[in-house]
Formats: sequence, structure tokens, C-alpha cells
Amino acid sequence: MDDRPIGLFDSGVGGLTIWRATKRLLPKESLIFFADSGHVPYGEKSTEELHDLTTRIVRYLIGQDVKIVVVACNTATVYAIDHLRKTFPDIPFVGVVPVVKTLASRTHTGTVAVLSTPATAESAYLTGLIQEYAPDKRVLRIGCDGLEDLVEAGEGRSRQATALLERHLTPLRDSNVDAVGLGCTHYPFLRHRIKRILGPGISVFDPSRPVARRVRELLAERDAFAQHGKPFYRFYTTGDATHFGEVASDLLRYPVRDVGHVEL
Ligand code: DGL
Repeated sequence: MDDRPIGLFDSGVGGLTIWRATKRLLPKESLIFFADSGHVPYGEKSTEELHDLTTRIVRYLIGQDVKIVVVACNTATVYAIDHLRKTFPDIPFVGVVPVVKTLASRTHTGTVAVLSTPATAESAYLTGLIQEYAPDKRVLRIGCDGLEDLVEAGEGRSRQATALLERHLTPLRDSNVDAVGLGCTHYPFLRHRIKRILGPGISVFDPSRPVARRVRELLAERDAFAQHGKPFYRFYTTGDATHFGEVASDLLRYPVRDVGHVEL
């Protein structure tokens, strides 16, 4: 038994897709969500910057007495989770990476695509995942510049977002792709649009639920499930707290109130 909260963080609102899946799967758990909105997008940061920012965030979360940290951001996982595990050996981490294994097992055509930030698309980590899990598949790595900024601005449903998505997804049209992975935690908020643009023959995979299941597994291994009946949900941002609360409430259709502002 462990009633301490679970900490989750992202560069902004994207990680709320994992927050939502975790809340649904583990309704007794208290959750602290940290959005580094003051430094979004992570997709444009150097590895050193990502190490530095994520280390500060984890230190902050540990200061809030979390029992586990979920790196609810593909870019931060790919570039910083190893560093975080070394820096904080006593805290268990769960990360999120593109679902290459799932794509490889689901494709019939042998061609799949990963949508992510340009940084994740170019990463050696993604190359490693492809070599390990999809060596015999054609994997298109689509770096989708700018999408997370629109979601952050609360403009994921705008015409501009649709136009940008169409531009990024055009290479998939005549490519024989039949399975697409959402390799950035902001993208599940655009899932309906992505599906509409891709059409019915292409399946879209979102890692939020598998990540929540991994959290449950880890808590089970450690006998660390919460017991109290009334969990709490706290939100912090390094950006504008009012803006974060408004955009988050709209995306989640859940009232995100009393967001704390934090300087890292
Ligand atoms: N949500 C993040 C991810 O999963 C990154 C968005 C960004 O800040 O570039 O990669």
C-alpha cells in the first residue's frame, strides 16, 4: 500500500493524454501533473537542455513526494529517461516511446508510419526500436513540426491545424501504410482529425493506455497501490497557469482548476 501520488510530466498539455488514461485505469491513485509549458516545444531542445529541464522537474516532483514518475512525453523519454534513471536511482520511471512493436505486429502491407516531433523522428532511440522490433518493415518517420504548438494554444480544432496535418500526412497517402503510431503525446488530442484525413484503411495507435497499464504493473510489482477512497489531482505549469487550466479543461472535458505556477 502506498497512498503517495503518481507524478507525470510533459512539455505541456500533451501528457494529459496519459494522465487521462492513468486516471481511468487507476481511479484510486492521486496524480500530480507537471507541464513545462514555459519551455515547450521539447522537440526543438538539445539533449543537454532536455537533461537539465527534466532533472529539475523530477526533483520538483520528488519534493511533492511522488512514488513513481511517468515521463509522459516521447521526446523527453527518448532523450532523457536514461539520464533520469541514473540521476534518481531510487525512483521508478515509466516512459512513453513510439509503438513500433505494435505497428510491426499489426501491419499487413509491411509499411507503417510513426508521427512524432522532428527530434523523436531523428533520434537514434527510434532507429534502435525499428532495428529491434521492425527490422523487416518499412517504417516512415514523419516529423510533424508545429502540431504541438497548436494544441498548446488550444487551437487543435482550428483550420490551421487541419491544414498542417494534411501537409504532414500527405506522404502517407500513396505509401501503402496501413498502421500509424502517435509518437507524441499531444497527438491523441488530434486523433479524430488524423483518422479522418487518413481514411478507414489505416489504423491509428495511441500508447496512452499501454503506458497506464505499465504503471499499474509497476505498482503491482511493488505492492504500492493507493488505498484511500478520495484521490486528489494537482496540476503545475512553468507557463501561464490560467491558460494551461483553460486549454487542459477543454481538451479533457474535465475542470482543471487551481493550477500552480512553478519556476524551475
Ligand atoms: N508531447 C511531447 C512528446 O510526446 C513533445 C512535444 C514537444 O514539446 O515538442 O514528444
